[in-house]
Amino acid sequence: MTECFQTILSKRSSGLKGQIYIPSDKSISHRALIMGSLAIGKTSIFRLLESDDIFKTVNGLKALGVDIYKESDKWCVHGVGVGGFCEPENIIDCGNSGTSVRLLMGLVSTCPIKVTFTGDDSLRKRPMDRVINPLSEFGAIFSSNHDSKLPINVIGSNDPIPINYNLQIPSAQVKSAILLAGLNVRGKTTVLENEPTRDHTEKMLKFLGAKIQIEKKGSSNNISINGFPKLNPGIISVPGDISSASFPIALACMIPNSELIIKNVGLNPLRDGFVETLLEMGANIKIQNKNIEAGELVADLHVCYSPNLVGVEVPEDRSARMIDEYPILSILAATATGPTIMKGIEELRFKESDRIEAIADGLEKNGVFITKKNDQLTVFGKGNQKIKGGSIINASNDHRIAMSFASLGSITENSIEIRGASSIKTSFPNFIDLMNCIGLNIIALKD
Ligand code: S3P
Repeated sequence: MTECFQTILSKRSSGLKGQIYIPSDKSISHRALIMGSLAIGKTSIFRLLESDDIFKTVNGLKALGVDIYKESDKWCVHGVGVGGFCEPENIIDCGNSGTSVRLLMGLVSTCPIKVTFTGDDSLRKRPMDRVINPLSEFGAIFSSNHDSKLPINVIGSNDPIPINYNLQIPSAQVKSAILLAGLNVRGKTTVLENEPTRDHTEKMLKFLGAKIQIEKKGSSNNISINGFPKLNPGIISVPGDISSASFPIALACMIPNSELIIKNVGLNPLRDGFVETLLEMGANIKIQNKNIEAGELVADLHVCYSPNLVGVEVPEDRSARMIDEYPILSILAATATGPTIMKGIEELRFKESDRIEAIADGLEKNGVFITKKNDQLTVFGKGNQKIKGGSIINASNDHRIAMSFASLGSITENSIEIRGASSIKTSFPNFIDLMNCIGLNIIALKD
């Protein structure tokens, strides 16, 4: 496999063809490892995503005393049971992974142990008060020298009390941190989410035998869990990641003569906003062979070149269902006819980079007109006109920005150079090889 190089050059490509499997779902992989560590006995995970972010969760759980190893094609997790974690000897470094740090903080906050978490430059800049605030209500104590940012010391509560928390921002990471903390608390913990977010935690808890109540109130959800559920070890197969699939989907739509089949993609109804938006734009996508695996909907996607894409308005209430796909949607929108208006996307400012600025800046540099507000981005699609390209993009170690501009380079008049591309290995380690294999033209430049 071509290593993920720091600097890559993406050149104009012609028709993509093939049938591919994309890497496994990152969110579900984190949760499979975490839930496996909470069940007593051996959980086997097939098709675990083997990427940097997931290895951070593996290492964090190992530091907490969980035995995890790979055995031929499966990963084995010997769970220690709810509340069974031991105090780590060293700092837990979560690298670039927001999901690792926020979910692990949830896990340890109701265990009577002390843990210090840190991360890379990007993760140390990201807000952690969103998890510190609810987790403190359980009785955990958090301290940081940097405005509630990493490095953070956690002293887990030895007598945690259940909480009732109204989520202020739509975040599956925060919701999951609270539910995981609630597992080690006597009584009922409830999270109220006003805007539903990905529910992989709830689905996997159910799959392993926990009772979780979900009460719908209009468009809101009241999610409750009773402490100390019996979690059974199980066999989990992780579906392909729709967020990773979004790159070949967009590429097949915008490169003439493309036809791709992407197998076994997770289509959880709280993650399918990207496909819905593309269908509204006129994309040629067919969903085939639907199936359920470990409680999750999976399907094959048949995608063909879509020459008549039109700009659309993406409503605010869809943003949680496609939060990681706005960068690549913006690239596709640049090729559509008319403006694409993306509303209610302020959360993009708190990802691995400020993605609104990164997309806006990168598109402008390559000859695409945009306008932006704090929580909104409009991309003025060029339709049949050519896009100039030719710029150097600094992806600021943000994998989705790197892959998005590598995708743009495949249709611009001039090649696009992307720096900070090694971040791609956090979620899609074989991106360059797999995309080149179906017809893209990405080359690694000497660093
Ligand atoms: C994730 C939730 C989302 C998403 C992230 C993965 C998860 O973050 O952007 O890539 O696995 O729970 P937020 O919860 O911050 O929206």
